[in-house]
Amino acid sequence: MKKDCDLIIKNIGQLLTLAGDTPKRGGEMSNLTIIENAAVASKNGKIVAVGKEDSVISEINLLDNAKEINVDNKVVTPGLIDCHTHLVFSGSREDEFYLRIKGEDYLKILRKGGGILSTVDAVRKASSENLFKNGIKILNDMLSFGTTTVEIKSGYGLSTEDEVKILKVIKKLDEKHPIDIVPTFLGAHAFPKEYKNKEEDYVNLIIEEMLPVIKEKNLAKFCDVFCGKGVFNLEQTERILNAAKYLGFKLKIHADQLIYDGGAELAAKMNAISASHLEYISDEGIANMKQKRIIAELLPGSLFFMGKTNYAPAKKMVNNDVPLTLATNYNPGTCTIKSLPIIMTLACIYMGMNAEEVIVATTINAACALDLQDDIGSIEVGKKTDIVIWDVNNYRQIPYFLGLNLVEKVIKNGNVVYEKQTEDVLR
Ligand code: NIG
Repeated sequence: MKKDCDLIIKNIGQLLTLAGDTPKRGGEMSNLTIIENAAVASKNGKIVAVGKEDSVISEINLLDNAKEINVDNKVVTPGLIDCHTHLVFSGSREDEFYLRIKGEDYLKILRKGGGILSTVDAVRKASSENLFKNGIKILNDMLSFGTTTVEIKSGYGLSTEDEVKILKVIKKLDEKHPIDIVPTFLGAHAFPKEYKNKEEDYVNLIIEEMLPVIKEKNLAKFCDVFCGKGVFNLEQTERILNAAKYLGFKLKIHADQLIYDGGAELAAKMNAISASHLEYISDEGIANMKQKRIIAELLPGSLFFMGKTNYAPAKKMVNNDVPLTLATNYNPGTCTIKSLPIIMTLACIYMGMNAEEVIVATTINAACALDLQDDIGSIEVGKKTDIVIWDVNNYRQIPYFLGLNLVEKVIKNGNVVYEKQTEDVLR
């Protein structure tokens, strides 16, 4: 029997389906499962047929009001997935940027009450409406760069009340914006000023109060901890993550970001879904992540923005079968890049990843880092119709044309939610 469809995307030059086993690792990270002269059909926001155009046309029954999009031989990919951001905040930190350019150290600024803590001050003073409005603006920009799903962490509240405030804003953003949002609780982002020299009390507050309240209100899927020098040590990280696991949160860790601290090994020990940053990961950390199938979230935008050169050893991880993702890590301190295509270019230039690997890392593997691989990340029957149409005829141009927005249309749940406005200059 023919399948009804209310949307057909036709005349696709290269359809990057990303189909196959998940997460992709090793050599599979270079396999995009491409179909040429392809089409995709969708009904009620879900994909019902994918393949060569002739074969898709023969399988489907186009409903009366069905929309037809002819992509004119261009490239089509799954919607991009930004699996690591801190995008709900207030204020900005250009003064800190100025100081860092002059040579001031990131952790020293934090120790003096700046950095993350200055954003905490601003967020505590901000209304939920203000946080929501800022969030919408950022998400609009991300959507225009092809992002259809975003993970957002709390972590600029650092009190039960303010962390809940941020997570409620994240929930409202998910309800109101076309981008799907995955919430992560990051109360362990820094020690708030009022807990100076009482760090253990703050860890206890997270364990005894914040985590149960957030669980009870169902405000987060993941619990993350910033593990490392000047923030949460290994023992504190493990205690927090154990408590989170007990309550049913899935786990993430910021690991080996500013120095080697054993965070990758801990992520493996705790069976976290992912570990992020990893600039100083050890060989043992890589081996443990491979063995426990932990996903690496690499964030080259932060290295670039911080003017550093110690990028995470991406190729070594690929060669050791650790599945990689890439994300913007959008936040007011260490990365103000909202575009995943720019992150792809940085990953190619500074980490030696190839065009195929960076696309895998921002689609299907990023879906795995959010435990959403059954719904998004590839163009396969049954998944959400989250699709980007690119104004290129070869996917290798996506990371190549640095800084140009090549996104022509974004389709979310089967609806066109972004369309590039082109001005007719040839009047
Ligand atoms: O990923 N590592 C922790 N958090 C952010 C920084 C947040 C900030 O400086 O405001 C990061 O780099």
